[in-house]
Amino acid sequence: MSLVEVKSVTRQFRLGQLSVRALDDVSLQIETGAFAALTGPSGSGKTTLLNLIACLDMPDSGSVLIDGTATSQLSESQLDRLRSRSIGMIFQSFNLVPVLNARENVELPLRLHALSVKERWDRVDEALDAVGLLKFAGQRPDSLSGGQRQRVAIARALAVRPRLVLADEPTASLDSGNAFALVDLMRTLNEAHGVTFLFSTHDDRLLGNVRDVIELRDGRITSRNAQSGTRVDRSHPTADLQEVPTCSR
Ligand SMILES: Nc1ncnc2c1ncn2[C@@H]1O[C@H](COP(=O)(O)OP(=O)(O)OP(=O)(O)O)[C@@H](O)[C@H]1O
Ligand SMILES: [Mg+2]
Repeated sequence: MSLVEVKSVTRQFRLGQLSVRALDDVSLQIETGAFAALTGPSGSGKTTLLNLIACLDMPDSGSVLIDGTATSQLSESQLDRLRSRSIGMIFQSFNLVPVLNARENVELPLRLHALSVKERWDRVDEALDAVGLLKFAGQRPDSLSGGQRQRVAIARALAVRPRLVLADEPTASLDSGNAFALVDLMRTLNEAHGVTFLFSTHDDRLLGNVRDVIELRDGRITSRNAQSGTRVDRSHPTADLQEVPTCSR
């Protein structure tokens, strides 16, 4: 069973008299362990698709299944649970809280989890270590570089040990050096810790090492260049993700 299955999804937006078909009969499967990039011109539907998979929005027709369960069948509290435990979302603008330092930002989503205080802070440190930011843990976002802020946002997404990380243009605000480093980091987290990634990007240069590239145009998938190997074999399935993210100290 696929981790994510999008079946004939259509999403339309109304702007006054105008109706925009942001997604038009899109079908897609993402397997556990995948590292897939969503690409396509501005307005092609990348954010709309990520928001639907993240359960932040619902399709007008068709369905989105996570682990075989249609998201439309879930109650609000089940959706909340899915969003807060299984899916990590990384936004282009990081969405960090400016008055909190890096550790506190990463800890924020864990407050919804039934963890002891020690478990919580251990997870925060693990996640910050996994993105190489432990020594910046006490700094607020405004004293971090764009690349470091984006890594805090990744640590925050990872700390909840999600099965799936969705990232919407995670490199858009970064210079090319930091953008490449960020994709390498996501790749390492995918390979070493089995985190499934689906991320959107405008930047073709970043796609050189990505084997699974899904192209959207005008709300339709026009190609998917998935070579064998996009499904990463793991000795430990990611179903319970008990060991993700781990870190070597
Ligand atoms: N909330 C909304 N209300 C109205 N129209 C919307 C809304 N969200 C998206 N759209 C429209 O749907 C289409 C797809 O938008 P989407 O944001 O998914 O594109 P995108 O591929 O992410 O673009 P970009 O690369 O610029 O981020 C666009 O035509 C956009 O104007
Ligand atoms: Mg977008």
